[in-house]
Amino acid sequence: MTRLGTIIATPEGPSVNNFSFVISAGQIVKRGQFVSVDTEDGRAIATVSNIFKTNRYFESAGSVNEQNKTSQLYSAFPVKEWEYTIAEAHISGAYDAKQNLIRPSFPPSPGSEVKSVESEILSKFLGLDMKRGINLGQVQQHELDAKFNMTRMIQKHLAILAISGSGKSYTTTVLIEELVNRGLKDGRIAILVIDNHGEYENLKDDPALKDKITIIDANEVKVGCKHMTGRAFAALLPRMSGVQVRDLNRIIQTVRKEDGNFDLTDLIESIKVDETMGKKTAEALISWLSELEYMKVFAGDDYPAIEDFMQQGKVVILNLKDILRLDKKQFIVDFISKRMFELRRRNAIPPYLEIIEEAHNFCPEGAKSENALSRKIIETLAREGRKFYANICLISQRPVQLSTTALSQCNTQIIMRVTNPYDLDHIKKSAEAISSGTLDMISSLKVGEAIVIGEAANHPVFIKVRERKTKESHGTKLEDYAILWEAKNENSKLADGNEFL
Ligand SMILES: Nc1ncnc2c1ncn2[C@@H]1O[C@H](COP(=O)(O)OP(=O)(O)OP(=O)(O)O)[C@@H](O)[C@H]1O
Ligand SMILES: [Mg+2]
Repeated sequence: MTRLGTIIATPEGPSVNNFSFVISAGQIVKRGQFVSVDTEDGRAIATVSNIFKTNRYFESAGSVNEQNKTSQLYSAFPVKEWEYTIAEAHISGAYDAKQNLIRPSFPPSPGSEVKSVESEILSKFLGLDMKRGINLGQVQQHELDAKFNMTRMIQKHLAILAISGSGKSYTTTVLIEELVNRGLKDGRIAILVIDNHGEYENLKDDPALKDKITIIDANEVKVGCKHMTGRAFAALLPRMSGVQVRDLNRIIQTVRKEDGNFDLTDLIESIKVDETMGKKTAEALISWLSELEYMKVFAGDDYPAIEDFMQQGKVVILNLKDILRLDKKQFIVDFISKRMFELRRRNAIPPYLEIIEEAHNFCPEGAKSENALSRKIIETLAREGRKFYANICLISQRPVQLSTTALSQCNTQIIMRVTNPYDLDHIKKSAEAISSGTLDMISSLKVGEAIVIGEAANHPVFIKVRERKTKESHGTKLEDYAILWEAKNENSKLADGNEFL
């Protein structure tokens, strides 16, 4: 244990919650670091929330101004010697004499020594799982692997929130690597990735993973009409009235074949010749069904049978990159999420984690939410999934636009750099454990740094996400892409066989 500094008396403390200490000469203390101090309770553990320097020679604006005129301050006084560094720390808990974790009831005394915390104690304090945990990287400012227990991190759902480019997808890849590399005895789950931009495709190129990854092109996904009823169509077309649903149900019964199958053309044709249906209803139904037909997602049978690929220790990547219409994306995500949840409830597929990139597009808050087809199932998964071992991980760069119902059920949050004040406020409201000092630190995180809050750890913990083992695909640079694009349009040889176009 290294001595890091000495507690000072300030107008606010030391209190049971906070204290400040002067950092000893030669010691380095950083924000987010855990420190300890002996109190009458036992040993309190605290997190450094802020660090600042002070110097009494510069405390009075008037005298600094005077010195400015003569510029003799440094030669006349031992100014440098009076500069010292103060750290503010927030007490999170304490160990009593019997090593039980308690809520501290005595403040530390001014003059007490502040010491470092040994990795073993810190790991226990944070509730990490050094044996079978998911290793996301290192606890910041400590030589300790950030290994989170899988149940605690995932079973009550996970959210990864940060601005664009801060490392959400990178961290998710590290999470996937950890999950697929678990041994039989560690407990393995199946993984479904809703990949909006085809960012995870290249995991298939990794020799160690290629047999564990199945990529499904969402453009080829077909939903069997046999699953559909009038009500199910109404869920896709929120403008349908009760009468229209009833009429559609009647038509479905007439066209449904023995094996339960039918297709949209069957429905449209049959509505055209139906004599009992009102003209307006018929026209509306035909127009909506034609709209659905245009999406090209319905067929006689489901394709592919995704459930066959949902296996323990394996990953199914649903690549939505080539679908431009958001409603079509939502429809496919809705269908697949519902189907997987239903199969899980029937115990027909293994426990799984559904990772949803750009979750605010699939489960939005506010005005857009009414029309987002996939919102309901994601909220249902968030509320009820854990009882059935169907877990979700929501990834978003705009937490404000993400359904509060879904986000508030994500009991672990990995928060990377966030700068937008509305998003910061939203995060603060959804995670009680965040103090204003912590919030401050979130906006100054660097790429690849995160704070893990909630169920996965006993206390908020800053981590540096480890390097991924799989290769990252670096897209083509804008200049190169522009050259290739031009070449392609001129039919030049340069474009021949180039994979980027
Ligand atoms: N832990 C890390 N270690 C090293 N580099 C990282 C790390 N995390 C992120 N990066 C770098 O930052 C880049 C951006 O990360 P990433 O694509 O994960 O951001 P993102 O938050 O998913 O952004 P977007 O919201 O735009 O999808 C990566 O390409 C990678 O080079
Ligand atoms: Mg991303």
